[in-house]
Parts: sequence; structure tokens; C-alpha cells
Amino acid sequence: MMLSVPSHTQRGRFITFEGLDGCGKSTQLEKLAGVLRAQKLPVVVTREPGGTATGEKIRQLLLDTKTSSLAPLAELALMFASRAQHIAEVIEPGLTEGRIVLCDRFTDSTEAYQGGGRKLGHEPVLALHGILCGNLWPELTILMDSDVAKSVDRARRRNKTFSAGSGKAKSDENRFEQESRAFFGRVRNAYLAIAAREAERVVVVDARGTPEETHKQIVEVVRRKLKLGNEYGLNSPQSHRATEKTSRT
Ligand SMILES: Nc1ncnc2c1ncn2[C@@H]1O[C@H](COP(=O)(O)OP(=O)(O)OP(=O)(O)O)[C@@H](O)[C@H]1O
Ligand SMILES: [Mg+2]
Repeated sequence: MMLSVPSHTQRGRFITFEGLDGCGKSTQLEKLAGVLRAQKLPVVVTREPGGTATGEKIRQLLLDTKTSSLAPLAELALMFASRAQHIAEVIEPGLTEGRIVLCDRFTDSTEAYQGGGRKLGHEPVLALHGILCGNLWPELTILMDSDVAKSVDRARRRNKTFSAGSGKAKSDENRFEQESRAFFGRVRNAYLAIAAREAERVVVVDARGTPEETHKQIVEVVRRKLKLGNEYGLNSPQSHRATEKTSRT
């Protein structure tokens, strides 16, 4: 198969994964990365909060249950501190080098969790994004939609297994998982509002099926939206029956 790996003068592609805790973002991001790497494409896999040495320290502070009574605005500021470092150190350099940057959570998470969940509203989030992130937006965001109770249950179970396995773990990542059903309901609603507002960028994928079912949907979205099939040689497993853009909408 002919592959056209982007030259260093060509800017890379920025794709983010969003959704509730436990909906399967990390699982799906790895699966997509596997498909892209199998095509010999230059992929960077990263996550927020975190993604840099400094950012991972901020992540620990933000997600550790021992961090108590963090003011919502302080939480918001820490999310953006991690992000500004991440953009400077990982995302921008990756894009400049022509890589496909796959990021587990980005500013939409802040709008959903701090804006929606913590009720700070979307204005401060978008204003800070403009100031601190140079208004860098992904060209594609995959919003994995799922049921609140099911996702959070999964995340809690996953974290329990993780903590049990790691023995003397100094920190856990359960701080958000301890929030109420109502909190995650607001997070989900905020996500759906973003998708409605930014339908060009954000594609909602049903995350309620098996990992393989969800993966197929995601590969198809990436292939279609980013035209990776032509430019990068990413073939759809079902390309023979893929629904191409209809001429009328
Ligand atoms: N489609 C699926 N069906 C059932 N279980 C799944 C599915 N996808 C992922 N899981 C499992 O659910 C748990 C959470 O998945 P994952 O860690 O990928 O979610 P996440 O969205 O990255 O969560 P977080 O936001 O907490 O990082 C994991 O144990 C994973 O193996
Ligand atoms: Mg994850």
C-alpha cells in the first residue's frame, strides 16, 4: 500500500478524546493509535491533566482524593496551568513536526467538569483558553457518549483494581469519581451542549457498545473527517460500504 507520511513542513493533526470518567477514552485512544502506527504514521499519545513532567505533578494534585476543599476556581486554574505547559512542551512541537497528536481530554473537559460540573459556566473557560492556550483547538474531537451511572461505576472499579494492584500507591486518581450523580449529569449535559455548538469539530460516538464496536465507529470518523484515507493511506475496514458525504444535507 502506498503511504504518504507527512513531511516535516506539513503541520500535523490534533485529535482529542472526551467523555465521562470510565466511558473508555484511554482504551479507544490506544486502539486508534495502534491502527495509525500500523500504517507507520507518526503518532503522539498524550493526556490531560498531565502530559509533561510538570503537568503530571499538577495531575496528581488535581486527582488525588487527599486534595480536599480545592476551590473550583483554583481547580480551573490548575487545569489550565497543566494545559499551557502541555501545549508548549508537547502538543505544539508535535504538530510542528507533522505528527498526529492524540490527546486524552483537553479544554472541552474543563468546560464540562469545571464549567458544567462545578457550575463555573463556559465563559471563564473559553476566556482562559483564549489567553492561555493561544486559542488552539483540535480539528477533531471524539466525544464518547455513555450513561452516567455505568461510566462512573466502571471508572471506580478500574481505580480500585489499580490501587489494589499497586500496593503502596502514594496517590490515587479518585477525586472526581467521588462526585455525585448530579455532578456527572451536569458534565454530560455540558458535553452535549459543546457538541451541539461545535458540530463541525465535535463528533459524538456512542460508547455504550463493546470496545470493538466503538473502535470501528471511531476509525470511520477519523478516516472520514480528517480524510486520512487519502492523505495518509488509512483504509477503512468497511470502505466498500462506507457512507460518503451526501451531496445534500
Ligand atoms: N466498551 C467497553 N465495555 C466495557 N468495559 C469497557 C469498555 N471500554 C473500556 N472498558 C473498561 O472500563 C474501564 C474504563 O475504561 P477507560 O480507562 O478506557 O476509560 P476512560 O474514559 O479513559 O476513564 P477515565 O476518564 O477515568 O480515565 C476500564 O477498566 C476498561 O477496560
Ligand atoms: Mg482514561
